[in-house]
Amino acid sequence: MIEVQRHEHDVIVIGAGGAGLRAAIEASLQGCRVALICKSLLGKAHTVMAEGGAAAALGNVFPEDNWKVHFRDTMRGGKMHNNWRMAMIHAQEAPDRIRELEAWGALFDRTADGRINQRPFGGHTYSRLAHVGDRTGLEMIRVLQDKAVHCGVDVFMECTVIKLAVVDGKVCGALGYWRESGRFVLFRAHAVVLATGGIGKAWAITSNSWEYTGDGHALAYDAGAELIDMEFVQFHPTGMVWPPSVRGILVTEGVRGEGGVLLNNQGRRFMFDYMPEMYRGDFAETEEEADAWVTGDRKKNRRPPELLTRDVVSKAIVAEVKAGRGSPHGGVFLDIASKRDPEYIKKKLPSMYHQFKELAGVDITKEPMEVGPTVHYVMGGVKVDPETQAATVPGLFAAGEVAGGMHGANRLGGNSLSDLLVFGRRAGLGAAEYAKRQGRLPEIPQNLVNETVEWALAPFERSGGENPYQVQEDLRRTMQENCGIVRDQAGLEQALADLAKLKERAMRTGITGSREYNPGWHTCLDLHSQLTVAEMVVRSCMERKESRGAHTRFDYPDSDPNWERKEVVVRRDGDRMEVKVVPQPEIPEELMTIIKEGA
Ligand code: FUM
Repeated sequence: MIEVQRHEHDVIVIGAGGAGLRAAIEASLQGCRVALICKSLLGKAHTVMAEGGAAAALGNVFPEDNWKVHFRDTMRGGKMHNNWRMAMIHAQEAPDRIRELEAWGALFDRTADGRINQRPFGGHTYSRLAHVGDRTGLEMIRVLQDKAVHCGVDVFMECTVIKLAVVDGKVCGALGYWRESGRFVLFRAHAVVLATGGIGKAWAITSNSWEYTGDGHALAYDAGAELIDMEFVQFHPTGMVWPPSVRGILVTEGVRGEGGVLLNNQGRRFMFDYMPEMYRGDFAETEEEADAWVTGDRKKNRRPPELLTRDVVSKAIVAEVKAGRGSPHGGVFLDIASKRDPEYIKKKLPSMYHQFKELAGVDITKEPMEVGPTVHYVMGGVKVDPETQAATVPGLFAAGEVAGGMHGANRLGGNSLSDLLVFGRRAGLGAAEYAKRQGRLPEIPQNLVNETVEWALAPFERSGGENPYQVQEDLRRTMQENCGIVRDQAGLEQALADLAKLKERAMRTGITGSREYNPGWHTCLDLHSQLTVAEMVVRSCMERKESRGAHTRFDYPDSDPNWERKEVVVRRDGDRMEVKVVPQPEIPEELMTIIKEGA
């Protein structure tokens, strides 16, 4: 029998990005014994990829900002598809979470009078993003990990969870393996919080790092939980496009927030040509007006069109490239050099300056960058209760990117950092309160452990089988080609057919060597999650026969009123993926008034 190490806690948190850390801190503050499990090293979290800032209506730069305006912006940006209660809680609680982070040691950039500075970002009416240059996520992780360690959270690093234990219909533990030794480990707990982030590594061009294989989405699905909105995958408008080795790496929206403009190969500032009707009036209509906003009085002037929402900007870039007006390597130009002086650029965007200088040989204080859309974020995820973040299976909670609902059909930049603070805290609280109501820790049947261990070790029995890296690459290719920024029925059917073949190939993947740090083996196991989430996305895209936010279909180019406030739900039914459409909770009258008429 294979030896399995064992640990017992009240609450386990899977994932140590911002949401996981914040959840672990809260559960610990509630008196629970907490385990924090990370696939990577502590501190190496994808949260650092949210560079430009955390959105919160602090009102430091624009005193007229408040939760109602933030709520309205979030709902409009999400194309009215958001879980209204989550959007409301988020807008109301984000300022407190930012101030709390500051009290714990976060060093935000300052206004001239010493308050937390706030920068403009796409879709936000006012300058709203608390930031630390272009390294906001990094600073947040630094502070949160210090706090978690001081709270006494037990941290388990380089451990991948492959199965949630469900006993008598309740989630009560997780089985994983140490990436270094390949040995297995079983965590027993009353409650499990998923905070595993996103799914971007299922596409060829992405800002996401290697951990983003959709583990939490797949774990929840396998455990029988419902997932929603998986058709909404966000393409950030600006990733690097050149050289090929760095394609997809994020170019923060902060560049446009600080005045950067998008140009096609004819030097035209094309975003003026893509103004959606719903935003007309809020944005500048001429270059003079837009430029005046950047350096002049932001209260008087309307925002530049580069600060439209991400879905709009990404699609505009694709249209320009398709029309033959792209840059030499298939993107467009992002120019800040002609708008800001070099010292300002280096001060406000130090990482971008170094990133382009070192990776592309481009000096962004003198020349434009080449940029194009890159898979960045999934709005869809585990269906949760807005108050507690409880999933539809008892004992399971989810927060951050792995949870669905908050961002609707399109997330506003900066809302993820505040989301993970607000809902990370709520998930930690919800899990702690749930854990305290339980009795003794349930026993996890040995056969459940044995079956999973046997499944995980199967690739060693198939040396000479399919190469897992090749299967992974083929998955990423088909998702990029057939389930990209604009989709249609034929492409989605092709993707589904490809996924069926890839699933068969994944069952035949084989590896050689030992269990000790064996990346080929890790890839075999990651494939299960990646193929599961890819199928969820493709099936959800096929179901939603309209275009809304980040989900755009050639064959259904318009938003359909019949699809308004309806969500696609995915759930496991034996070996079958069940997909159904259900109405979303109605938005209360008083909130509709805020959305329609403003605060
Ligand atoms: O562009 C950025 O800095 C990303 C921020 C976000 O995704 O919220």
